Amino acid sequence: MAKWTADDLPDMTGRTVLVTGAGGGLGLITARELARAGARVVLGVRNPDKAAEAIIGMAGTFEVRHLDVADLGSVRQFAETWTGDLDIVVNNAGVMDVPLTRTPQGFDVQTATNYFGPFVLTNLLLPRIGDRVVSVTSQLHRQGRIDLDDLAWRSRKYHRMKAYYDSKLAIVLFSLELQRRLTASGSSVRSVLAHPGIASTSLAAHSPSGFINRLGFLINTPERGALPILYAATQDVPGNAYVGPDGPGSIRGYPKVRKPSSAGLDETTARNLWRATAALTGVGTEVAR
Ligand SMILES: NC(=O)c1ccc[n+]([C@@H]2O[C@H](COP(=O)([O-])OP(=O)(O)OC[C@H]3O[C@@H](n4cnc5c(N)ncnc54)[C@H](OP(=O)(O)O)[C@@H]3O)[C@@H](O)[C@H]2O)c1
Repeated sequence: MAKWTADDLPDMTGRTVLVTGAGGGLGLITARELARAGARVVLGVRNPDKAAEAIIGMAGTFEVRHLDVADLGSVRQFAETWTGDLDIVVNNAGVMDVPLTRTPQGFDVQTATNYFGPFVLTNLLLPRIGDRVVSVTSQLHRQGRIDLDDLAWRSRKYHRMKAYYDSKLAIVLFSLELQRRLTASGSSVRSVLAHPGIASTSLAAHSPSGFINRLGFLINTPERGALPILYAATQDVPGNAYVGPDGPGSIRGYPKVRKPSSAGLDETTARNLWRATAALTGVGTEVAR
């Protein structure tokens, strides 16, 4: 069977897509391909100059806007000043294995970037979103464990990789809970998950061993790593789909709907996590369940 590639993207003319963290890595490729297919792409980035330089020479309609997803003040400002249409939001921005630093709100930067930021951004933009939300996670969510009493690593000893695993599990639980809430409210908006397997990007730049980028042909090129995100953003997948590479262990290959971990599918944890996050961020409190 033919493998799905970016050449199979539908005509996206007339659609507006927000891609966070789109100044490099998988986000930039996602933005480039969606724009090539005709979408108006808004790059929500913490470094607008870098993003503006990155899109030079790319075909299509782009807009670069400042958005630091780790800083909930920036997220609020971005969402509250959004005007006009918005069809698709791709929560792509992420960091991995970073040392402990705190955001202006006192959250650890890793959980804030990978989870609190997307939670708040999505909830604030939700009334405007016409089609879907794609949240980018990782197969490493399978190693995650949710500590509802200490989501922001205040009382536990901070662990750089565990914070990554947990944040990527949190975004899985959030995305699936969001879909349940959308369905319950009769909305046709979808909440979809995507993961790239392993792709050679800058993500592992902070890892002391840097081993990921030495795996060479065993992993995805960034181009192929972006395919599950593009597929999740444009194809007719169910609203709770988890899209990842079709190869063994979902590490590399072409997009296919796969299954998240059983912890990711746990509805009780998802509901409790939503409540705990809403209490911490002050957003998402109005949607009862
Ligand atoms: N590559 C993989 O193997 C892999 C595997 C599983 C999941 N993922 C996920 O895929 C997504 C994209 O990662 P990548 O591989 O493309 O890594 P990357 O090359 O390091 O790109 C990450 C992007 O996120 C942006 N970013 C980080 N913190 C941000 C913040 N506070 N506000 C706004 N943007 C921020 C970065 O911006 P700057 O350019 O300013 O640094 C960068 O553009 C992440 O969610 C990652 O967890 C990747």
